[in-house]
Amino acid sequence: MADIRYDGRVAIVTGAGQGIGRMYALELAARGAKVVVNDLGAARDGAGQDQSAADKVVAEIKAAGGQAVANYDSVATMQGGANIVQTAVDAFGKVDILVNNAGILRDKSFLKMSEQEWDLVISVHLKGAFCVTQPAVKLMKAANYGRIIFTSSTSGIYGNFGQCNYGAAKMGLLGLMNCLKLEVANYNIKVNTVAPTAYSRMTSDIFPANMEEKLKPQFNAPMVLYLASEENSVSGMTFVMGAGWYGRTAVVSGNGVCLGDGHRDITPEEIHAQFNAISGLDQAKPHASGTDIFGYMAPLLGK
Ligand code: NAI
Repeated sequence: MADIRYDGRVAIVTGAGQGIGRMYALELAARGAKVVVNDLGAARDGAGQDQSAADKVVAEIKAAGGQAVANYDSVATMQGGANIVQTAVDAFGKVDILVNNAGILRDKSFLKMSEQEWDLVISVHLKGAFCVTQPAVKLMKAANYGRIIFTSSTSGIYGNFGQCNYGAAKMGLLGLMNCLKLEVANYNIKVNTVAPTAYSRMTSDIFPANMEEKLKPQFNAPMVLYLASEENSVSGMTFVMGAGWYGRTAVVSGNGVCLGDGHRDITPEEIHAQFNAISGLDQAKPHASGTDIFGYMAPLLGK
């Protein structure tokens, strides 16, 4: 199989100053991409900033013979997003690949969570993806080429104690992907999402220390590199990964049950009686868009 390369391609990786994003940036550059290494240099809770995080990764890429430029803006504002994309245009003339990876944590159980803890996490993960992706899509649409990756989490897709803010933001990214994939489908722009797993600053006090060797951040890079490549033809998919395991996850619908005759009222007792069939996921499948759901209702809609 031919090598996957990014020669002539320009990539932005947000939050690339350390952890998983750093590996994406190093590996993309090692395969020929010109990389914008964005990082605010914030603490794990999003406080503060430090330009040395992005600078160090740029220096590593250059030392290995690659091309990279640093950007220190926060993803969480429209101006920050515009500046990040402009950095790519000023240094390399375009944007082909965008990996939305920057992230913070403000974990708290739901009843103890403050408005600020909610807003901050939503603003970096969910609004941040909007702020950077919108100006990037403008350029990708004009160029008729783009590869966009969002970063979700199993905390949102499946749930995790103490992370209602983070889980909501991370699941929100799937909604963003599901709608954006339709809007850019005609412009050769592929939008996909990953839920990585790695022993990093974000998780070093969550995962047991003996997982450090197994959950290396670099194990997440091959999937993102593939999704960022010309070889990738899928859009709107979500992949979970860690430790060298890669799999797809999806929001699916079961076949459900048609009740009534399309005219008469339906009672909660009928739902109760049919609950196993209604909640069953045998033969469940993912859908390309929300309007697909009318297919299940078809026997009733025609009556
Ligand atoms: P990390 O804490 O090691 O790195 C995150 C980077 O994002 C930091 O360098 C930080 O300075 C930067 N950042 C934070 N706020 C920023 C902002 N407003 N603008 C620009 N940069 C900002 O975290 P890690 O583990 O590498 O996570 C990367 C992504 O993967 C995050 O989106 C995280 O939520 C997600 N993720 C990580 C998992 C893991 O097991 N480590 C699990 C699931 C998701």
